[in-house]
Amino acid sequence: MSAERSPEILEPTAPDVPIAEVVNEPILRVRNLRVHFELRRWAFGHAGSVRAVDGVSFDLANAEAIAVVGESGCGKSTLMKTILGLYEPTGGEVIFRGQKVSDMQTSGLKWYRSQIGYVQQDPFGALPPFMNVQRALEEPLIVHGVPAAERLPRIERAMTEVKLTPINDFLTKFPHMLSGGQQQRVVIARAMLLQPRLIVADEPVSMLDASVRVEILKLLRALQTSHDLAVMYITHDLSTVRYFSERIFVMYAGKVVEKAPVRSLLSDPRHPYTHALLAATADPDARNAKIYRDVPPGEPPSLVAPPPGCRFHPRCPQCIEGLCEVQEPPEFEPDANHLVACWLYR
Ligand SMILES: Nc1ncnc2c1ncn2[C@@H]1O[C@H](COP(=O)(O)OP(=O)(O)O)[C@@H](O)[C@H]1O
Ligand SMILES: [Mg+2]
Repeated sequence: MSAERSPEILEPTAPDVPIAEVVNEPILRVRNLRVHFELRRWAFGHAGSVRAVDGVSFDLANAEAIAVVGESGCGKSTLMKTILGLYEPTGGEVIFRGQKVSDMQTSGLKWYRSQIGYVQQDPFGALPPFMNVQRALEEPLIVHGVPAAERLPRIERAMTEVKLTPINDFLTKFPHMLSGGQQQRVVIARAMLLQPRLIVADEPVSMLDASVRVEILKLLRALQTSHDLAVMYITHDLSTVRYFSERIFVMYAGKVVEKAPVRSLLSDPRHPYTHALLAATADPDARNAKIYRDVPPGEPPSLVAPPPGCRFHPRCPQCIEGLCEVQEPPEFEPDANHLVACWLYR
């Protein structure tokens, strides 16, 4: 297994990285990021590795929202957790506002974590069961040294923003007394408390009732625009991304295979895998219904021994013999800002 960073005792000290915004610098740069988990069998030592993220590169602009879509197990959560600094990368770099995360010392990492709000899939699991809402929201403020007198006003502001009102009704409630949607609002309020620049939301609505999903996505979108936040929204469900993002990244077997503006990706998908994903997506809006034939059969490959060449080639209806199974495709740009790692566009 890749080393998980041990939780440090984070004393409130001044950050050792400059806070000043670097003009024109993307908020986040990810360069050839690789995260491999070592497999070990007792007494037999090394038994290969799971290549969960295998050479991912992208830039995220200030205040931009992107969605990362792909089947379960393709490495989305590993990518996010590595960006959050919870996993040590096997290779490559994460650069936040011009600072390499790998170079950050304790106080720098603490500053970095205050700049990123994390909203995970299971809000009930994310909230300590023995803390009421006020206590749960105070925790990050205490850890980051916010003076006692400022804490309640900040909590009230965050609760108003996520529409947990009347505030006094919610402050004393414990997680089990809240609905799934309300729990997720508490998690989002907690993510917003330290005034982050980036929100990472990993399948934030997939465990919620269908009736509240759109509300929560609209809330995230409203926070993004009112605070100029960058957002990475992870989902296996393409039907929700239209509510949300400027660009979509499609992930397959540890790699990003297509990156494009939402409209361009949904109306003119290029990668055969993106076609397959769209074909498998139920779109409730009949006007958007589009029939893609040739949905490739089969399952995503093993990440321990992925296929050579293009990882999608064994399932690809347009596989070019002698090329796709041999050589990994680089990124091509068939349209402006529409990038696709597929030999069809060479
Ligand atoms: N801590 C870990 N140790 C070993 N393997 C892991 C670990 N976390 C994830 N994996 C493996 O990495 C791959 C990608 O997982 P994950 O990032 O959770 O995918 P997704 O979020 O897209 O469903 C899976 O094969 C998963 O089993
Ligand atoms: Mg996941």
